Amino acid sequence: MARIAVVAGDGIGPEVVAQARKVLDVVLPGTEATEYDLGAARYHATGEVLPDSVLAELAQHDAILLGAVGDPSVPPGLLERGLLLKLRFEFDQYVNLRPSRLWPGTSSPLANVKPGEIDFVVVREGTEGLYAGAGGNMHTGTAAEVATEESLNTRYGVERVIRDAFARAARRPRRKVTLVHKTNVLTHAGGLWARTFAEVAAEYPDITTEYQHVDAASMFMVTQPQRYDVVVTDNLFGDILTDIAAAVTGGIGLAASGCINPERRHPSMFEPVHGSAPDIAGRGVADPAAAVLSVALLLDHLGHPEAARRVTEAVGAELAGRTPGAPLRTEEVGDRLAAAVSA
Ligand code: NAD
Ligand code: IPM
Ligand code: MN
Repeated sequence: MARIAVVAGDGIGPEVVAQARKVLDVVLPGTEATEYDLGAARYHATGEVLPDSVLAELAQHDAILLGAVGDPSVPPGLLERGLLLKLRFEFDQYVNLRPSRLWPGTSSPLANVKPGEIDFVVVREGTEGLYAGAGGNMHTGTAAEVATEESLNTRYGVERVIRDAFARAARRPRRKVTLVHKTNVLTHAGGLWARTFAEVAAEYPDITTEYQHVDAASMFMVTQPQRYDVVVTDNLFGDILTDIAAAVTGGIGLAASGCINPERRHPSMFEPVHGSAPDIAGRGVADPAAAVLSVALLLDHLGHPEAARRVTEAVGAELAGRTPGAPLRTEEVGDRLAAAVSA
């Protein structure tokens, strides 16, 4: 029986995770789900962000389902770094998998793109880059303050995520990998990424490769998202590009992700790409589709492709049945999806 740790988190996190759990309970009956009350409320009550004892308990699960973390009442970064990034780093979730597709019934801001024409996946490096936390402040608070953020890139870390991207592309019909970086300016890290990419590409002669600078990629992702199949990139570029990808495929409320440890030495974590959305939290209007699609990624990872397919199809049908512009109720969408997967 699958043992899932649930970290609903802050803001709309609990609202969307409740719907994801409804669907999970139906599609994989007997799943043992354990809630962990990490996030802003626990921090205010106890001062704790992620106690070592909880980290050790989380490590005993098959996977983690996470809603969102971050709250305006908590200093920026405290929960994001101390909880979310700590989990990604501790559990060595180096493949941050973020699929994008344009579903029938949803609209892209691109008038010329038809459903089905956008179907790509961003393989975002999840444990290095500017997220590693290297750097610091000197002369803090003075007119002479200096702040540095260093990007950490190791051959080991870059190679393993590039290998994952090629292995994924080899299983997809279009067999194409795009490397996105900024090698014209970030010559140190960019050189490592470009050389490693070329070396791995040489092992896959039947996979098409391309390189784009991240500024150009940001433009093409809006104007020609159809051109992408697998995109591999570093942690920060991947963060930014996947919000753009979400925007062109119907919005951030539909974008799912998996923070994956492919070797399965540690639990992988599945979460919407979006955050805690304080602007709409507590109103019951958040779209739970991204959280539910994250459950599909979780099911796939745990070896239940048929259950994953049922969840994905249920979301596709639900999206196709929506009336554009009509108000959405989180609970109602969750109920409809749970009913659809049980049918
Ligand atoms: P956000 O994704 O929370 O919100 C951006 C915009 O998208 C808001 O207008 C919000 O209402 C809307 N939105 C997001 N999810 C939606 C949904 N499911 N349905 C409908 N609309 C939705 O990003 P932000 O405002 O930059 O960040 C808010 C907080 O969340 C910050 O504390 C940030 O650090 C945190 N954050 C956490 C995660 C995560 O836990 N993985 C991801 C991103 C941001
Ligand atoms: C995401 C978020 C996180 C990130 C933040 C909250 C640390 O934006 O999951 O996309 O930057 O990875
Ligand atoms: Mn992000």
